[in-house]
Parts: sequence; structure tokens; C-alpha cells
Amino acid sequence: MSRKQTMLYGIAGEQLGEVTRDVPIDEPPPLPENAKLSSIGKSIPRFDAVQKVTGEARYTFDIQLPGMLHARRVVSTVPHARIKSIDTSEAERYPGVRAVHVLERIFLTAQLRDPKAEAGNRYPMVRYTGQPLAGIAADTLHVAEAAVRLVKVEYELLPHVTALEDAMREDAPQVFPGPTEQRGTAGGGGAFPGLPQRGNVRGPDSGQMFGGPHGDVDTGFSEADVIVEGEYRTQVQTHVPMETHGLVADWREDGLTIYASTQFTAGVRDEAAENFGLPKNKVRVLSDFTGGGFGAKYGIGNFGVLAINLSRKAGAPVRLMLDRREEHVAVGNRPSSLQRVKVGAKRDGSLTAIKLEGYGTGGVSAGAGVGFCHAMMYPCPNVLTEQYDVFTNAGPCAAFRAPGQPQGIFSLEQVVDELAERLGMDPLALRDKIDTSGTLDSAARAAERRIGAERFGWSARRPANTDPGPVKRGIGVAQSQWVSVVHPPTACEVRIVGDGSVEAFSSAQDIGTGTRTVLAQVVAEEFGLRPEEIGSYIGDTRYPIGPPSGGSRVTGSLTPAARNAAYRAARDLAARVAPSLHARPEDIVFAAGRVFSRGAPETSLSFKDAVRAAKFEEISHRATRNDDYEGYVMSGPLFSLSPQGIGGVQFAEVIVDTETGTVKVTRIVAVHDCGRPINPKLVESQLYGGVIQGISYALYEERHLDPTSGLQLNANIDQYKMVGSFEVPAIEVHILEQYGGISSTDARGIAEPANVATAAAIANAFYNATGKRIRTLPMSPPNVLAWLSA
Ligand code: MOS
Repeated sequence: MSRKQTMLYGIAGEQLGEVTRDVPIDEPPPLPENAKLSSIGKSIPRFDAVQKVTGEARYTFDIQLPGMLHARRVVSTVPHARIKSIDTSEAERYPGVRAVHVLERIFLTAQLRDPKAEAGNRYPMVRYTGQPLAGIAADTLHVAEAAVRLVKVEYELLPHVTALEDAMREDAPQVFPGPTEQRGTAGGGGAFPGLPQRGNVRGPDSGQMFGGPHGDVDTGFSEADVIVEGEYRTQVQTHVPMETHGLVADWREDGLTIYASTQFTAGVRDEAAENFGLPKNKVRVLSDFTGGGFGAKYGIGNFGVLAINLSRKAGAPVRLMLDRREEHVAVGNRPSSLQRVKVGAKRDGSLTAIKLEGYGTGGVSAGAGVGFCHAMMYPCPNVLTEQYDVFTNAGPCAAFRAPGQPQGIFSLEQVVDELAERLGMDPLALRDKIDTSGTLDSAARAAERRIGAERFGWSARRPANTDPGPVKRGIGVAQSQWVSVVHPPTACEVRIVGDGSVEAFSSAQDIGTGTRTVLAQVVAEEFGLRPEEIGSYIGDTRYPIGPPSGGSRVTGSLTPAARNAAYRAARDLAARVAPSLHARPEDIVFAAGRVFSRGAPETSLSFKDAVRAAKFEEISHRATRNDDYEGYVMSGPLFSLSPQGIGGVQFAEVIVDTETGTVKVTRIVAVHDCGRPINPKLVESQLYGGVIQGISYALYEERHLDPTSGLQLNANIDQYKMVGSFEVPAIEVHILEQYGGISSTDARGIAEPANVATAAAIANAFYNATGKRIRTLPMSPPNVLAWLSA
């Protein structure tokens, strides 16, 4: 059952029109612009800000349970081997050790498997240095560490390979000799299961999911007046959340409780239930606070398998938090890339062909593609993208803040910049010409380019390499487009309690984005209450299922469910309070903490008095996230994609010291859209974070592996250089208020898009400063000097 509903469509302050949608009959009426709302769209501070800065917030790392044991892992010290034996007897006898568990197999989402090569083995194959083999739980962490050193592992060494180009050679040691078994797409940037594999090279994935190959690129290039091509490389970046991966597992007769640092409480529950043969109602996952997660913190991982087994064996809760070294090595990274990009265009800038050949290594995992921007962002009649995974003996990649996209945009947006130069066009004018899908996306990008150019002062841009001295200043721009992901099962429960208080529940977690606050704002709006009056409860799988904090999907998935539940509860309440106000239920209005009949605000009750007058103990309503009103371009049980995307345009100013090779970013202007911003302050916070992480990726971060031992040489946070506060420039952000008529809140995420365009904008600014392209990351002094002298 559906009805027609007219909704806002377009960009506030630009052109704002309307669209008529078929919406499910029980959906709330459309919301007006943010300016007309009292709670939604307001920049309130996040509820837990004080808890966080005072250290009161309880992260998984802080969990202490009575009788809790501490666990450490035994990891491989070699990069590739068959294990002949593991002797844990001495460790087991060590005083204070309570349980030892040896892994019988590798947890599948953490690493690919090769069932043929592993058949008949007692232990999993070792495929990278630092791979977990066993765990030990003891009374203290120090005892566990001491016991770990007593475990004797006998290896039969196999040849190994750690570098992309070495691994691509025909005679390279094989990381996975047989066909691999894969669950999900670990890296998330393309390269899906079932692709052909030759040696260590698997693929190609041609991006069929995202507009795939179409037309004929050879014809396209033959029609081109100008062809620009280049080879681009990006490095492996590790996630480095403030809180490492880990959990506390508490196995009891009546069920398993897990305190997890995770992006998906329900996912942790599901994996634990599946792996330990438990019904899901006997597994409870709690996450009050998660200290960051950028795509790698989804399931239980090998560390979770260990901790749960250890808890079961010891009959006590077990805490297993990874240390910083383990965090870098074993639980995910953004894959490297080698991209050959070729773009053809007519004199007027119109594109005739886009070709991408990409290789990337995600170590012992797959999904090292560079995303789909080459096929998606600029419409082009002839497109061919082919992406390959290259296996190496290195830790598994994982999804990382817009998987593939910062890599892909780094090449695509530099090629577009170069094309503009060759055509004698301004880079923004060229994008106006080629970013022509005619969707709300291209309209948003056009507005973002214009707004950003004004704020940034783009018109003062000088020709490349204008500064005569060795220290050169330049500016650049890059844009990005990302998919809008919805988690269809998302549900929310809203309760009105008899004393007039309101509470909302979702199993969704908060990895730093402000989920609690956003949830309360949406619920408060329906009741005319202040957000801080709403009890906002998340991070517990006993609540209705929430979305994963991944794919920038929490706000876009949770807020419509929350609003729908709140709307139903409010209408239920309206029917109960109407008699005391001598009004019809449909005329009851909740606003500014009062309840009154439409047109008669002078006769009002406070919200609490109205609830008390209605005399009930509790009203509870639950709603799920209805499908996007416009439908999806792709739909699955856990993952649907809206036809409208999210994106942004970023402008960068840099100073390059051509004598020392030092690059300093002096200014970033980031203009982005995320549908209806529910809390602009929190959106800004995501944008700051995304830009900062983007600068860090562009200039500093890089995993260094020792080719001989496979050991990561900088698995720490001093030699693994990340951006510091002195290196963070002025960042100015601007958020478009955009309406697409897609859901009852029209909200979308922002976390991933914020991170995508930064490195490419900096690279284009580098060119403008120096007149030289920098086609490899990071822009470290030796790399910069090499490109300057090229
Ligand atoms: Mo993400 S990289 O979808 O957590």
C-alpha cells in the first residue's frame, strides 16, 4: 500500500524544487527544510563529548570484569611456511596460565583460504609474518606474554614474496597455489569472488557492478583529439584507529557475552554464533564506545576466535586487545595500487574514452581494486576498467574509508587536471563540461565547485611553476563521488514511558560519528522535545538491529527507522491525549515541550503532563527502514545502493620546498553533500577527520615491509608517520543541504566521501606549484625529489 507524497528535491539556497514519490502508506509526512525544524539540522554538541574528553567514556579497552583473564597471541615469525608442530606444553605449565588455544583454521574473512593446499594439514598455512597461530589466557598480561615466548613452533619454510611487482612475475613464489576460498570482499574496492587466477594475480574484475565496461575504448581513443595517460602508484596504508582491535569474551553456560571494539555489533554476534554453534539469542554483543574504526572492525576475527575459545576453556572472561604492532600487521590495511590510466577527449573537452588497468595488493586477502570512479564519475561513451588482485605474503587488507576510492581518485583527478592543461581549459571549467550525468549528483558537484571556488579564491590561480625561487606555492582541486549505502534490515524502537520520558533503542554502535546524538535529534523532533531529553540507547544486540558503521550508512539507515518509530509512537500518544485537550487526535501537535490542538496553542499541556493524563505505563513502537522511495540500483539483504550518491569537491593549497622535497599543505576547502544534514556540527567533524586522514595518506603514511623477513619495520606510531597537529592546515568546510526525496529523513552519510579527494587535490596543487606531476604516494621528501628531477 502506498500513497503519493510531494517532497523537497534539490539544493537549499541553490534551486529547491519538489518531487512526487510513491511512499509506503505508513510513512510519516515529509519533513520541511532544516531551517523550519527545531531539533533536526541543529548543530548540538555530541552527547558524549564530555565523557570522551574526561576519560569517563568506557571503551572495550577499559572493560574490567571480575575474574577476567588477559590474553596474548602467538604469531608466526616467518612469512610463508607449513607448520610441522606447535608445542605449547611448557606454556601450559607456566604459573598463572589458565588456558591455551591453538587455531585449527584461519578465520575466513580475515584472510583467504586455499582448501587444496591446506587439506590434511593439522594447522593453518602460515602466509605472512605476524599471522596469529594460538592464544594464551593468564592471570595477568605479563604472564600471558611470558608464556607466549615458551611456545615452540616448528616451521617448514616456503619461499615468499612481499612486493607487488615481484609477486606478479611468473616465477614468483605462490602465495595461494590453489583456487582461493573467499568470504565477502575484504578490501571492498573491487575484485569479487570467482575470478580467474594465474600465479599470484587474480582478475580482472571489470566493475560490472558499477557501470562496468561499455562501448569500445579503441574506437574512443581513435576519435580523441587529445590523449592523456599515466602510471600511478599508491602505498599500503594501515588503519591506525586510536583503540586497537579487541574484545572481552565471557563464555557462560547460559550464553556468550562479548564486549567489542567494533563497527558492527550485530555482525560480531552473527559471526560468534555461527562459529561456535550458538543460537543468536545466546550471544550478546555490547559496545558502549568504539575508539575509531575505518573499515577493518567488522567481525570477530582470529583474535575473537581465540578469545572466545580461551574463555570457554578457562571458564572465565578473557580480554584480548591487540597491541599497536599487531594492529598494523594483522587486521587490515588499505591495499597498494599500480594504475595505468588513459583518457581521450575532444578539443572541447568531451570525453571519448576512459581506460584503467589496475593492480593492487591486499596481501593474503582480496579486494585490492581502486574502486569505480573511472567508470562512474564522468559519463563517457567508451569505458574499460580492469582490476587485478596481486597476492603477497603480507597481512590482509580490509575495507578502508571509501575502499579503493582515494587510490582511484588520485589517478583519475590528476589525469583530468592534466587534460585541462593540455586543452588550455580551467580545471573547473573542464569538470563543468564533463560532469554531466544530469542527476542530483552532478548538480551537487557543480554547486560544490562554484561554492568552493569562491571560498577558496580559485580565480587567483596562477600558471604552473610560477614562483621563481626554490619554495613554490600552488593550488589544486579534485572531486569525488561515492555510493549511498542503505542497510535494509535496520530497525529502531521508541518508547514513551508513563512518566513522560522518551527513549530510543538500536544495536547500532558509535565509532566516533555521534550516533547517539543523531538518533536523539530525530526522535526529539517528532515529540517537540529537546534532544537531550531523549534516552538514546545503542551498542547492544538486545536492541533492534542497527546498521554497521560502514559504507557511511548509519545516518541514512537509522534515522528513517527512528523517525518512523517515533512518528508512530507520537500518533499513538496523540490519540491518548486528545480527550484531555478536547481535540481530535489528528490535530494534536507536539512542539517546544508542549502538546496542544492545532490552531489552539493557548490551551496546552506540558509533554509530561499530557503523558501522565493519558495514564499508561509504556507505549512502544518499532519501525524498520523502508526501502528508498526511488528504489535501489542494487539490492541485497545487508546492502543496498541508492541511485543518488554522495560526494564533494576539495581545494588544496600547498608549499613545496624543491630543495628539501618537503610538502606542506597550507589550506583545504572542502565542500560536500550528505542529503539532509541531521547535525551539521557532527558532519563538519567527519569532514575535518576525513581531510586530516587524507593529508596523512597523501604526505606521510606508508607501511614498510622487510622483504627478507616479511616483517613490518614501522609497525608503531613513531616510524609509521601520521599527520600531526602541526601539519594540519586551516580546513574550511561547507555542507550542502540537499534533498533527494529518498526516505523519511532524506539523510545520508558523510564519513567516507570526506576522505576521498584530499590526496588528489594536494597532488594537483603540487603540479600547480612545481610544474611536475607526482604520480606516486606518499609525497615524502625522497619521493618528491625523485619526481622533481624526473
Ligand atoms: Mo567502511 S571502509 O565501509 O567501514
